[in-house]
Amino acid sequence: MTELRFLMCAPDHYDVDYIINPWMEGNIHKSSRDRAVEQWQSLYQIIKDRAIVDLVPPAKGWPDMVFTANAGLVLGDKAVVSRFYHPERQGEEPYFRQWFEDNGFTAYELPKDLPFEGAGDALFDREGRWLWAGYGFRSELASHGYLAEWLDIEVLSLHLVDDRFYHLDTCFCPLQGGYLLYYPAAFDGYSNRVIEGRVPASKRIAIAEADAVNFACNAVNIGDTVVMNKASVELRSVLTKAGFDLVETPLTEFLKAGGASKCLTLRVTEPIMPDRHASLTLESRVLEMRGHLLDAGVVSRALDLIVEGGGSFQVLNFDLGEQRNSESSARIKLTAPSRLVMEELFSQLIEIGAIAPTDEGQKDALLEDVIQTGVAPDDFYVSTIYPTEVQINGQWIAVDNQRMDGAIAITGLGSGSPKAQCKVLRDLVAGESVVVGVDGIRTNRKITGRDATKSSASQEFAFMANGVSSERRVELVVEQIAWELRQIRDRGGKTVVVAGPVVVHTGGSEHLASLIRDGYIHSLLGGNAIAVHDIEQATMGTSLGVDMKQGIAVRGGHRHHLKTINTIRRHGNIAKAVEAGSIHQGVMYECVKHDVPYVLAGSIRDDGPLPDTVTDMIVAQEQYAKQVEGADMILMLSSMLHSIGVGNMTPAGVKLVCVDINPAVVTKLADRGSLESVGVVTDVGLFLSLLVSQLEKLTSPYQLVNA
Ligand code: ARG
Repeated sequence: MTELRFLMCAPDHYDVDYIINPWMEGNIHKSSRDRAVEQWQSLYQIIKDRAIVDLVPPAKGWPDMVFTANAGLVLGDKAVVSRFYHPERQGEEPYFRQWFEDNGFTAYELPKDLPFEGAGDALFDREGRWLWAGYGFRSELASHGYLAEWLDIEVLSLHLVDDRFYHLDTCFCPLQGGYLLYYPAAFDGYSNRVIEGRVPASKRIAIAEADAVNFACNAVNIGDTVVMNKASVELRSVLTKAGFDLVETPLTEFLKAGGASKCLTLRVTEPIMPDRHASLTLESRVLEMRGHLLDAGVVSRALDLIVEGGGSFQVLNFDLGEQRNSESSARIKLTAPSRLVMEELFSQLIEIGAIAPTDEGQKDALLEDVIQTGVAPDDFYVSTIYPTEVQINGQWIAVDNQRMDGAIAITGLGSGSPKAQCKVLRDLVAGESVVVGVDGIRTNRKITGRDATKSSASQEFAFMANGVSSERRVELVVEQIAWELRQIRDRGGKTVVVAGPVVVHTGGSEHLASLIRDGYIHSLLGGNAIAVHDIEQATMGTSLGVDMKQGIAVRGGHRHHLKTINTIRRHGNIAKAVEAGSIHQGVMYECVKHDVPYVLAGSIRDDGPLPDTVTDMIVAQEQYAKQVEGADMILMLSSMLHSIGVGNMTPAGVKLVCVDINPAVVTKLADRGSLESVGVVTDVGLFLSLLVSQLEKLTSPYQLVNA
């Protein structure tokens, strides 16, 4: 017990001289040296009463050297010396290294440019069973592999996500008896699951933000004693109940630099548990990207994605294309804290064009059999909207029926010409092979950056982000859409409309009807409501009982839609009602008159549905998919759920135009990462009327001159 030792460093040169964490902001030269010395002395006394304190001489010019937790990580007689992330602290490294060497430790040095900030980011379970290691701000995930190997201990990686808690020891403190004091919100979801998997609920002391910002987790635990800057009444009582003796000692001057008691100490006697050995769930894989990587910003997107998703990377090489037209290629080593995270990350990277390198031993896609009809193997690859190829028997084959959220099923494996196809889960049949994992899969994203910057899509998003859509902006978008609609019609292409009842409520049905009449629309998808309200309006002049001309509720009008449904039911269906002359205008009328197929999918309301409405949702989905097939453009008009459904069954390359008054809906629908989608935040009735008048202008070329 007497052998317990800590390393500290007197605050002779302590100050806030620069900003490398949020706590230092606004605090440059704001700490009082005298008060800092006083507070440090008190802490020193408290520790000294319970353990031996060694001192490393402070070095002038290195104000943060007081935070000895960042000197390195010690286990037994080994010390992994820190590699600081910020140049502001890198000058401390030789001093700490010297101290370790002078005191009989074997010093381990991480590769250059692989940051790891010592015991600030690595904390032993107090029973010595494993090492918790943080990453995300100061230490790189890839450093954890070295820790496991050199210290021969299991390492559990935790992803820090709140920059106020940039070191693991600012929000996480293992205590004696298997307890854990921590601030859960400082970690991502995956890390929280790792923590919960290791520490039983009865031992987890999750603190509130108010305590966390007082650095309550930055505590020194010696036996039953827990030393910290400050604790709330609640925290004190929880700790007391758990059998701890809480000692508070103000360290406010050090908080200004983003540290407190734990940061100011380094425990240099960490006993080795003989029966514990290295183990690491960390996984690394190499990925490759090719194309106009710089122009399109794909590499930086990939790297951001890796870091945000809880992984880390090392760029192994990056060959820059020499000319504007040459392609670049990059190889990146991706490290993830677990297999699960690795597959999640890798799938996302495949989506933006990355591929597992094939040169070393030609990696085929991994296949697994479907055991239970309608159920895919656990780690099946989830398909995206992008054209995909899979490698089977050394050959890349294109996947048919590309759609989002399906599995890739392989048939004809023995035949020499295997086929790959996207299938929704329910269509999988026992015995069929499905692609699992991430090997041998590539998506063709045509990484052509210069086109990307030219495209209007990026502008659209900027425009949506503003939240306000100036009338002029909407007009410009409409002009472009009108032009494309016209092109599609004239070349015999296909435009599909997905419409919600808001089209009718906002007075858009006459315009949509005229688009259908003029041959611009080739298929209509919606729910029961669009048809009911359109027919109600066509036959009674109201939409949900509101007079569309005067904008006021009609007496008894709420019965109108029921009357409408009833009339259609009497005729048998919409087409028959049209033939019988019961309906003579509107969206549905034009569809019938011009042989434009429509699918009305389901209704939960029991006042309907129309006989035409397909209430078996699976049948409806299949009919939708059929209509979407071969589409050049899809106009999504204020119908969030039907549009999302359609979006998922639509491969990349189809132009999507999403119109909704709610920017959140537009963002959700239009943001599929492909260039062909455009979002328009506006009233859908207004949009349709602009669109129709724009198309009229296109039809009569002299109009502009005359006007
Ligand atoms: N100013 C120092 C830094 O940002 C504070 C270090 C606190 N140390 C710690 N183990 N959390 O690096």
